[in-house]
Amino acid sequence: MPKPLLQLALDTFDLPSALAPLQQAAPHIDIIEVGTILCLAEGMGAVRIIRSLFPDKTILADVRIAEAGGIIAKMAFEAGADWVSVVSGAAPSTAEVVYNVAQEHGGEAQIELSDGWTWNQAERWREIGIDQAIIHRSRDAEAQGELSWGRADLDSIGRLSDMGYRVTVAGSVRADDIPTFAGVPVHVFIAGRAIRNAADPAAAAAEFQKAIAGVYTAQEQES
Ligand code: 5RP
Ligand code: MG
Repeated sequence: MPKPLLQLALDTFDLPSALAPLQQAAPHIDIIEVGTILCLAEGMGAVRIIRSLFPDKTILADVRIAEAGGIIAKMAFEAGADWVSVVSGAAPSTAEVVYNVAQEHGGEAQIELSDGWTWNQAERWREIGIDQAIIHRSRDAEAQGELSWGRADLDSIGRLSDMGYRVTVAGSVRADDIPTFAGVPVHVFIAGRAIRNAADPAAAAAEFQKAIAGVYTAQEQES
């Protein structure tokens, strides 16, 4: 099982607040996420500037497309994003148009799975060609006290992976959550606040990488 990648989510209200922790943590980060909040606060200019500062990093614009998929995806890719997100509640035609625009730009589309998504939808997205999904513990659910990753989440990741998806895990993930995913084929772990708000973002990101390597390298040696 390949070692998962680490993505830093930048959900800040302005670009300078994102750049400070990003500059520190960048050597330990595989993917940069221009978070939904930053996209709304600063627009695609944030993606453009982060692309210019980090030409070699993979960048996700977490634009959470629900409609007008072709236009929003084009805006994000033209600003320098590699990946864009589409919500699971979007119509299949929206998911399809985003996938097509992603293909035209050499990028990828990710489906963010929210409450109520179905396995039939997951099959349809695969037929469209989409092969990335995000299992997301929402901030709103978190605020209501749903805090732990459960067996159902882990089983869903396995089943999605069997369908050909690369699965990202997001939502208040901490380094000490990583062992929960031992044996589960995660493609990317996203950390936002756990790195951004740390006193030392570089050390926090390094701690994530150590936790990921500890769990997934040990596994590889056992198999
Ligand atoms: C919130 C998001 C965040 O980018 C994601 O949850 C990661 O941030 P954090 O680790 O702070 O939860 O998409 O809706
Ligand atoms: Mg996000």
